[in-house]
Amino acid sequence: MSKQMTSVPRHLTFEIFRFNPHEPDGEPHMQRFEIEETPYMSLFIALNKIRETQDPSLQFDFACRSAICGSCGMMVNGKPSLGCRTLTADLPELIRLQPLPVFKLIGDLSVDTGVWFREMAQSTEAWIHAKEAFDPQADEQRMDDELANTLYESDRCIECGCCVAACGVARITKDFKGPAGLNRIARFMMDPRDERGDQDWFEVIANKDGVFACLGMMACHDICPKELPLLEVYAYLRRKALTTKSRDD
Ligand code: SF4
Ligand code: SF4
Ligand code: FES
Repeated sequence: MSKQMTSVPRHLTFEIFRFNPHEPDGEPHMQRFEIEETPYMSLFIALNKIRETQDPSLQFDFACRSAICGSCGMMVNGKPSLGCRTLTADLPELIRLQPLPVFKLIGDLSVDTGVWFREMAQSTEAWIHAKEAFDPQADEQRMDDELANTLYESDRCIECGCCVAACGVARITKDFKGPAGLNRIARFMMDPRDERGDQDWFEVIANKDGVFACLGMMACHDICPKELPLLEVYAYLRRKALTTKSRDD
């Protein structure tokens, strides 16, 4: 019988990280909350129940509730996960929630992934570079179906930050592009409308903050809630870096 079908509801204990960086006297600590589990309860439902019935000051982020907006990433029993897609039935009775590391803490479980992703996008110039100005009246350019699908796969990233939080290198190397950054770079490298050449990209990826900083243990690949093919992305970037000469050679 599925755990959802059992008749006696489980009693869940949440240990939740609490800290408000705007309160200078506050100390980071874990706070316990107890609730009864209900059928098909997600962490979104559980956290709202705790906030509504026990502590209105609890901070966390949700918007779409369907793995689209990327705002609800958090550490769930030590693993980066989307809160809206995580069912309590798949977790033990003791659930520990902490904010994603690497990103700026707003308070409790809420982090600002936007700053990190904006800096990454600016440092990699994550937009189409073309010499000709965009003509909105021009016919759409045709693109090979297979390539269009590959670009679409990369574009499915919802910028939740789970892969970055899972990456040991990103945790200790401030300027490492991170899994989501490497994915973004590959997306524009493969796009035939982007006119940056191999040597331009070489400067971006073949350095201590690029693909060679990646240790390749694939925690990011295993954790990505959208199941992006990050393994293939790094293989593509490594091949490109190894077959391109630097401008100094
Ligand atoms: S495979 Fe590379 S990018 Fe992914 S988690 Fe490991 S070190 Fe980070
Ligand atoms: S690659 Fe996956 S885990 Fe990383 S930010 Fe994008 S959707 Fe989230
Ligand atoms: S609330 Fe949007 S991804 Fe979870």
